[in-house]
Amino acid sequence: MNGRTAVYPGTFDPITNGHLSIVNRALKIFDKLIIAILNNPQKAPLFSLDERISMIKEVFRSKSNVEVDSFDGLLVDYVVKKKANVVLRGLRALSDFEYEFQMALMNRKLNREVQSIFLMTDYKWFYISSTIIKEAASLNGDISGLVPATVCQNLKEKFGY
Ligand code: PNS
Repeated sequence: MNGRTAVYPGTFDPITNGHLSIVNRALKIFDKLIIAILNNPQKAPLFSLDERISMIKEVFRSKSNVEVDSFDGLLVDYVVKKKANVVLRGLRALSDFEYEFQMALMNRKLNREVQSIFLMTDYKWFYISSTIIKEAASLNGDISGLVPATVCQNLKEKFGY
């Protein structure tokens, strides 16, 4: 078991600068990070799994210690499969806390060897989420500075402007 690898799971529809900040800060703690995108078509994502993988790979192309992957089924099973034992999540405002606490406790019930670690988001990203960015972008709002350039471009193409 490699204790210095963390799995950072999420929907990432799309990845935002808030996610980026969590990854970059986590790399100061962990040797390797696996960004694991949940393959859940029921959530009806804006971007397909392949699109999300390719955007995230492009964003981290210079970082050899960041792996981009997808998973389905239980997160804790995926973590074990990757020979890791840490789940990393970012925490924004109070509203995230209850959901994250519930998820961490369920994951702990499912596998006590897997530890959940949380990083508080930087104040700059306190108010952003993939959902609110998609809403602003769909209405032609300027979301530059909140997402990586490649995501900005892809959002423009999705919404046809
Ligand atoms: O970015 P999100 O949508 O908040 O990420 C949620 C995610 C993917 C971390 C969560 O839905 C998940 O881990 N799903 C996998 C299924 C699972 O393991 N469920 C039991 C623990 S709650």
